[in-house]
Amino acid sequence: MVERSLDVGKAVDSNSSPPTMKILSIETSCDETAISLIEASGDLESPTFSVIGNSLISQINIHNEYGGVFPMLAKREHAKNLVPILKDVLIQSKMFTEGEIKIEKDLWNEIEIILSKEEGLYKMMMDVFKNIESPKIDLIAVTNGPGLAPALWVGISFAKALQKIWNIPLISVNHMEGHICSVLLNRTDEFKILNLEFKNNSINFPALALLISGGHTELVEIKNWGDYKIIGETKDDAVGEAFDKVARMLGLPYPGGPEISKLAEYARESKLPATAKFPRPMIHSHDLNFSFSGLKTSVLYYLRDNFSVLDEKVQITKDNCADIAREFEDSVIDVLKAKTIEALEETNAKTLIIAGGVIANKKIREAFLDLEKTLNGLKLRIPNSSMATDNAIMIGMAGYMRLCLNPKIVEKTDRITAEGNLKLCH
Ligand code: KG4
Ligand code: ZN
Repeated sequence: MVERSLDVGKAVDSNSSPPTMKILSIETSCDETAISLIEASGDLESPTFSVIGNSLISQINIHNEYGGVFPMLAKREHAKNLVPILKDVLIQSKMFTEGEIKIEKDLWNEIEIILSKEEGLYKMMMDVFKNIESPKIDLIAVTNGPGLAPALWVGISFAKALQKIWNIPLISVNHMEGHICSVLLNRTDEFKILNLEFKNNSINFPALALLISGGHTELVEIKNWGDYKIIGETKDDAVGEAFDKVARMLGLPYPGGPEISKLAEYARESKLPATAKFPRPMIHSHDLNFSFSGLKTSVLYYLRDNFSVLDEKVQITKDNCADIAREFEDSVIDVLKAKTIEALEETNAKTLIIAGGVIANKKIREAFLDLEKTLNGLKLRIPNSSMATDNAIMIGMAGYMRLCLNPKIVEKTDRITAEGNLKLCH
């Protein structure tokens, strides 16, 4: 079969916007299985998006037992979740039309090969997709990195199989570019309210992005869409990772960010005495890099020196835990703010984008909203908390932006592979 290509080249080449298109996006880079269907229109300067279907299954409870994400388990769960959530998205979008579609035996054989390493997925797809009509979708966007390779592969193989069944063009998306694009949709009071339209979140360039997630802490200079330069990054742990590890030391469940945040808020509201003191790593290093592993070790030593351990559990009161959480959070905020101010000076950025799961943190959001007030003319763009953590909507939006940048981008399907360490680049 000849792969269908997108028919947007002419429109973009003649300096007008691509036509409105429906984009199905798939995100499986870590412990969230997410699929969404968005409608996208406009151009790079003023894109408009509406969410017409969105579904996400978090594996948090499953990974909780291990205190972190276990890649092979994540892979297995993604394989189990993808078909039901796609069905859910199609139903939400009123695109689930029962009816038989003709899929030649040879094509099923190709799909079986594509899904040969994804436990049970081939059978689930056969059962469901032989009985639904091809939906009117213009493009599929799938995350191909960075992330956990086995988890990424399930999403990619699934996307390739859908591409074959429905003959829809497919592109790969960098997960971190997805986080950057999450700010293009910042009025997501609830995903449940579908069919909302979002615009006017334009970015003035040059922009600076502070990306803070479970796997990344990066400062990215963005001269224009698609032109990314990492100007600072962590030398060891990512901020989210430090939140998760400190939470674990305190006996709190995974993911640790929201737990630490709740305790820190309790400490502030109850005005608990500030006893714990931790360093602000690399705050005076005169570069834009970060280090959070030392901060984590300071918490470890503080616990060791002040509290006893019984049956591998540190014996500590809620108030002591909250005091530690508050001081840890304050340290993170001081470092993130100081480095961001330096990077803003260096880049002359007009827009500051902050994205990634950690910006779901209330205190960090407040700290940057305060900073915006003190910096004349700087536009701050942060996603709503539900758009900060991993989701597929951001992947669909990044796919659209990539397409606007380069309408000929649609790749040969078999060239798309999982790239666990994929970097943002020019
Ligand atoms: O972007 P994300 O959903 O996944 C990755 O791409 O890594 O980020 C997940 C990270 C986890 O480390 C989690 O603890 C952290 O974001 N996180 C938070 C909060 N909510 C999620 N960290 C601090 N405060 C929060 N409220
Ligand atoms: Zn992420």
